[in-house]
Amino acid sequence: MISVETKYRRLVLVCTNCREDGRECCMAKGSVELHAKLKEAMKAVAPDVRVVKTGCLNACATGATVVVMPENVWLGQATEEDIPEIVRIATL
Ligand code: FES
Repeated sequence: MISVETKYRRLVLVCTNCREDGRECCMAKGSVELHAKLKEAMKAVAPDVRVVKTGCLNACATGATVVVMPENVWLGQATEEDIPEIVRIATL
């Protein structure tokens, strides 16, 4: 294993998991579209904050789930309307 240099100072995780058994999941709550639009918005103002898709973060009932790392800020019921606030939190 090696240590890798990165230009990123933060990660924003967006759960895009789909649970095909009918249980609640973030994909069913628009998280794929949320991820795509949040990624574009973040790139425009903070290219050193990486927005990434993740699998299930085990907060399905309150999805769509977004987590800002390394601060470990968990956001639930996130929608595209929340993108400006997510960007604000991730660029403090
Ligand atoms: S499906 Fe998103 S937290 Fe579980």
